[in-house]
Parts: sequence; C-alpha cells; structure tokens
Amino acid sequence: MEIVTTKEAVRAAVREWRRQGESVGLVPTMGYLHAGHASLMRRARAENGRVVASVFVNPMQFGPAEDLDSYPRDPERDAALCAEMGVDLLFRPDPAEMYGRDFRSYVDVSGLTEGLCGRSRPVHFRGVCTVVCKLMGIVRPDRAYFGQKDAQQLAVVRRMAEDLDLGVQVVGCPIVREPDGLAMSSRNTYLSAEERQAALVLSRAVRHGRELAESGERDAAAVAGAMRAIIEREPLARVDYVEVVDARTIRPQTELKRPVLGAVAVFIGRTRLIDNFILE
Ligand code: PAJ
Repeated sequence: MEIVTTKEAVRAAVREWRRQGESVGLVPTMGYLHAGHASLMRRARAENGRVVASVFVNPMQFGPAEDLDSYPRDPERDAALCAEMGVDLLFRPDPAEMYGRDFRSYVDVSGLTEGLCGRSRPVHFRGVCTVVCKLMGIVRPDRAYFGQKDAQQLAVVRRMAEDLDLGVQVVGCPIVREPDGLAMSSRNTYLSAEERQAALVLSRAVRHGRELAESGERDAAAVAGAMRAIIEREPLARVDYVEVVDARTIRPQTELKRPVLGAVAVFIGRTRLIDNFILE
C-alpha cells in the first residue's frame, strides 16, 4: 500500500491504473478506523480493481462548538488497518492541501439537509458534500462507499452524485455494531465506562422501532414515541431527535411507508451519538 498526501500523487496513481484498465473504488473516512470502516473497504476491495481510502478530518463539516480539535486520531493504526483490508492507496492530505487559500466554492444539497442532523448541525452537510465532491473529483472513482450508520449523509451524497452528474455509483453498506449492539463510531472512544453502558439505549430504541415497523405499526408518531420513551428512561441520555422519515427524501412521515428511516441522535454526557434503522 502506498500512502500519499497530495492530490497530484493521487491523480498520478489513478491515471496509471486507468491505463491498465482497472476500475477504482473510493472509501472516504475521517480516520480512527474501526470495523465499520473496514466493512466499506472490504466491499470496495471485492468490487473494484483498485481501492483508494482517504483519511481527512474535514474542518469544514464541524461547527464552531464541535469536536474538531479533540477528534481522535491514530495515523499508524489507520494505515495498518487499510493495508490489512487491501487498500492500494491511502490519501492523507492536510487541510492546506485540500483547501487552498482562495477557496470559495461549496456544495449545498437543499431539502434533505434541513431535518435530522442538519437541524442541530447547520453547516455540517455543506462541509460533507463539499469534501466528498472534491474527493470524487480528485480520485474520479467508479464507486464510492458510505455507511448506513450515517443514513442522512448517505441519502444526501446519493442525491448530490445524481444531481451533479458526478458519474460515481454511491454504494451504501450496513451498520456494523459491537457485540452488545452499540453502533461502531470513532466517537465511542469519548465515552466513560458508565456512559458506554448508557449508550446502549440508542441501539435498543432502534431495534424496538424496527420491530414495531416490521410488525405492521403504521403510525409513525407511535414508532417515534416508543423509541423516545426507551431513550428517556436512561438518566445519562438527552434526546437531540427521534424521527421517522422517508429514507430517500428525509421528509417526516405521518403514515409509515417504505422506504422508511427511523433515526435517533442522543447526547450521552457530552458525546453526541446517532443510530437508525431502514426498511426498504
Ligand atoms: P467517518 O465518520 O470516518 O465515516 C466514514 C464512513 O464510514 C462513512 O460512510 C460512515 O457512514 C461509515 N461508518 C462509520 N461507522 C460505521 C458503522 N458502524 N457501520 C458502517 N459504516 C460506518 O462520515 C464521515 O467520516 C465523513 O463525513 C466523510 C464522509 C469522510 C466526509 O468527511
């Protein structure tokens, strides 16, 4: 595996692969990699001749009061995991390489970004879309891999790729969980032992919501209410949102209709965690 820090080095490698007729898969990440990220890399490895992974903690997608400075980093362990997963090229730019001094262009996806995480993180999706669009422009992959863990992000990136004719197939991958149900996240490292236990309310609420929806409950508010009740029983948890929305448009549902997304965001102490279910 080669590790590079410049856009030009990525372009040169991809140019050579294209000359050999290879397909290219892209896995964008912010590092501190875990089995969720690994699952995207494994899928990309299976479906493409060459795989590029990026590790870039993107300042543009963090709000002023968010955890940009404390976001966990472990470049050596990340590189080892990428190599183990069969990544061919690891792109690790610094912010100056990604955003030149005169940077002035942003990608905004309207509508889908207004609810859920967009409500409590107003600049977040603009930052995500801008950096993902740039990564797609640098790598020009055939396919790009995203986790359903960030279901709204997946829907937004799909919309962007289609609307802007980026020519990249956006592939969604299932949520990878710890044995006790907690969705894997780089931010889980912020949790104390007590908070780690309390964080199980997210997956418990999501599992219950899915069961209700699968067993034929058609009242979206009833499903959301049952999920919220589970979370509110945990003293260390504070709900940011619990919602049942259309999985494609992210519009709230009153009557539950597939494809449906049941999504939760919860503060456990100072750490904000998300989880969800989707029924296609
Ligand atoms: P990050 O949080 O590092 O996640 C990178 C990718 O891994 C995302 O597509 C995310 O959905 C996926 N992922 C994270 N946890 C997962 C889990 N438990 N199961 C399955 N997939 C999981 O999401 C970002 O970075 C950034 O916003 C990024 C897209 C890289 C743009 O900066």
